[in-house]
Amino acid sequence: MQKNATASINTAANAGGMPAAGRLNWSTRMAFILAATGSAVGLGNIWKFPYITGENGGGAFVLLYLFCIALIGIPLLIAEVMIGRRGKHSPPDAMKALAKEAGVSRHWSLVGWVGVITGFLLLSFYLVVAGWAVSYIFTAGTGAFHGASGDEIGAMFGGLVGDPVATTVWGSVVLLITSAIVIKGVKQGLERAVTTMMPGLLVLLLVLVGYAMTTGHFAEGVNFMFNPDFSKLTGTSVLVALGHAFFSLSLAGGGMMTYGSYLGKDVSLGKTVLTIGVLDTLVALIAGLAIFPIVFANNLEPGAGPGLIFVTLPIAFGQMPMGQVVGLLFFIMLSFAALTSAISLMEPAVSFLTEKKGYSRLKAGSMTAAGIWVLSLGSVFSFNIWQDHTLYGKTFFDVLDYLTSSWIMPLSGLAMAVFTGWVMKKTSTKEELPNGMTHTLWRFLIRYITPVGILAVFLNAIGVMG
Ligand code: PFF
Repeated sequence: MQKNATASINTAANAGGMPAAGRLNWSTRMAFILAATGSAVGLGNIWKFPYITGENGGGAFVLLYLFCIALIGIPLLIAEVMIGRRGKHSPPDAMKALAKEAGVSRHWSLVGWVGVITGFLLLSFYLVVAGWAVSYIFTAGTGAFHGASGDEIGAMFGGLVGDPVATTVWGSVVLLITSAIVIKGVKQGLERAVTTMMPGLLVLLLVLVGYAMTTGHFAEGVNFMFNPDFSKLTGTSVLVALGHAFFSLSLAGGGMMTYGSYLGKDVSLGKTVLTIGVLDTLVALIAGLAIFPIVFANNLEPGAGPGLIFVTLPIAFGQMPMGQVVGLLFFIMLSFAALTSAISLMEPAVSFLTEKKGYSRLKAGSMTAAGIWVLSLGSVFSFNIWQDHTLYGKTFFDVLDYLTSSWIMPLSGLAMAVFTGWVMKKTSTKEELPNGMTHTLWRFLIRYITPVGILAVFLNAIGVMG
């Protein structure tokens, strides 16, 4: 295996697997791990996890989430990467190839289609939040948080999201950068960004945890996150916890399947996926530990919603020593984390269009980007001119998030569990997970625990709603 990890995807024909002619391939095993971790760790960990934990009452929700990651998320991530690696095509065709191998209907390709479409839908609102993060690089860099009160910082955030033109521009910047990288197809930059930015982000989060310890409310934050009070769970909390396990691990968004399709046989799926899952969960928990003490110290509302980190962390940056530099670095790294996830949301559609329609990456990327841009306006406007246009109290942004994370992704996960656990031949999955114990454990989880877990969550949600 090559030791040098400079190019993460290339068109070489010997990337450790059996690539179809002309397919992109990871140059090294490390390259895949980095790109997949880059996909998993993103706004979901730092922006979404803390705010939904706040909205769903804290500890009990965190516990539910951890169960979902361990029993549903990790086995499914193995399944998704396995489908990609064995199917060796973009998601719909990878599913079709494996359905053929198993001798079942080619309509299983629908699962791949859902992945591509979900990635598209997710990116349309993901880039809006990523745009907020990019714009905060400049807000932090100019020292605007210095000495500002909680109310002033709240007003700054309100001013940003309330401005449809500014947020459209910032979102477009994110989309342009994402498309440029995806169109180039060679992900050298991606790998370098992940290797430097990810540890940097972790260090900064730890610095913030250090600051949170000085607020005098650290114990309250820890208690909020880790002391489960089940009475605080709302009717849909379980569904939100499951949905977030999918979102955070980049499951069922097509990205992991596509990245898996560029992966050679020499990589241990079990170990790799476990590493990604542990890292992803750690980043989310550390982000929570940094944020909640600041929330309590400043009498803020943990359930304040999507603005939570954009209001709490700037308060910390405004008060701590070197806060301007720390804040600047933090938003740069957050933007990179968002970018490496955004790339994995766009890649499935581009991979599909190039493979199936024979389009160049430029044409496929431009078309995908144009569609995503138009859809993203709905999410931009959800915070300003359309904020009162709601469906069951949810804005366009909320509806997209809710439909994808809470329903489409878990349903598609259920289908992947049934497919890899019950439809694919045991000999095939054994080839992908050659370690006997890992295969036995995975197969038990994916056949029984994962699908039953997803169904239980759905039944609970339907019961609650009905
Ligand atoms: N996992 C990413 C995050 O936590 O920010 C979001 C994401 C990326 C979801 C790719 C789904 C996906 F396919």
